[in-house]
Amino acid sequence: MKIAVFSAKPYDKKSFDKVNAQFGYELVYFDARLKEQTVQLAEGFDAICIFTNDVVNQSVIEGLNRLGIRLIALRCAGYNNVDLDTCTKLNIAVVRVPTYSPYAVAEHTLALIMSLNRKTHRAFNRVREGNFSLEGLMGFDLHGRTIGIIGTGRIGLCAARIFKGLGCRVLAYDYQVPEEGLEIGIEYVELETLLKQSDIITLHCPLTEQNYHLINENLIAQMKDGVMLINTGRGGLIDTQAVIQALKCGKIGALGLDVYEEEKDLFFQDRSSTIIQDDIFTRLLTFPNVLITGHQAFFTEEAMGNIALTTLENTQAIEKGQPCPNQLNQELQATV
Ligand code: NAI
Repeated sequence: MKIAVFSAKPYDKKSFDKVNAQFGYELVYFDARLKEQTVQLAEGFDAICIFTNDVVNQSVIEGLNRLGIRLIALRCAGYNNVDLDTCTKLNIAVVRVPTYSPYAVAEHTLALIMSLNRKTHRAFNRVREGNFSLEGLMGFDLHGRTIGIIGTGRIGLCAARIFKGLGCRVLAYDYQVPEEGLEIGIEYVELETLLKQSDIITLHCPLTEQNYHLINENLIAQMKDGVMLINTGRGGLIDTQAVIQALKCGKIGALGLDVYEEEKDLFFQDRSSTIIQDDIFTRLLTFPNVLITGHQAFFTEEAMGNIALTTLENTQAIEKGQPCPNQLNQELQATV
């Protein structure tokens, strides 16, 4: 089976080539992102493997279908970038990697919180310039603070365990209340309560149509003054313009982002020699209390190995017509 791997970086190639020794697929790596202009690269392949910012809209899927692609293997958990209905209509199976290391993302969430709180991102620069002043670097004890988690699935629960270990009070809002959440002492509350009481709010829910701009002007107004907001979920969960207004007036006291709603034209590339045209993003960069990482929360050795393994296992199951629990359009199982 011949697989075109889009948005492939040297680190993807390394982890996939290592795991592929057990599978023996023909993997061809393309640095290009999948979109209307690059879909033709999939000619001659049986399947494609894609990542979070590849574009899989109706026109791209129709193009893939014309080229005979029968499988889209996502090497990530979120699939908000895929028009699943069109894939199903055109008999194209879609698989994903629902879990590869919830620890990676939860631990990165903690890294953002710790840096923003103790201002290590600023201290790093100061000390290198011989400036040992502590002015502006004061943080707060996390112990005893209230953390609000929106979405307690795999990553949210993992984050909750970390915060519990630090002695925080952990509130959560989710449509479902997992047994494990109660066991580790999470207090499940209404969203309004979480917004009012949390010193730090962290998002661990998926981006869906209903969750688009979940954090908007109205919700921000209900938060504590000076709240710290963290998003390692998906950029579209936050209305960035509303957040900028809240940062300007101090309503939001600190913002940590690993994802950004318009990230697909920015992230995963070295753009240090180009002029960034996105004025909203560049405005965010001007705040001293904003810390942005370029969608790296997943990026650990363990996660990369698991991603490659699950992606190729998914591919093998579809190829052999075996049930694949990670197939998003299960209704196609019999026909692929
Ligand atoms: P999961 O599916 O295990 O859990 C998501 C939880 O969110 C579920 O319990 C669901 O009921 C809840 N939820 C959905 N909408 C909600 C809402 N409006 N309010 C409250 N709860 C809501 O997903 P998992 O594995 O924990 O991942 C969460 C998200 O993290 C993924 O969808 C993905 O977008 C993002 N992610 C980001 C990564 C990164 O590198 N930054 C890496 C991996 C995942």
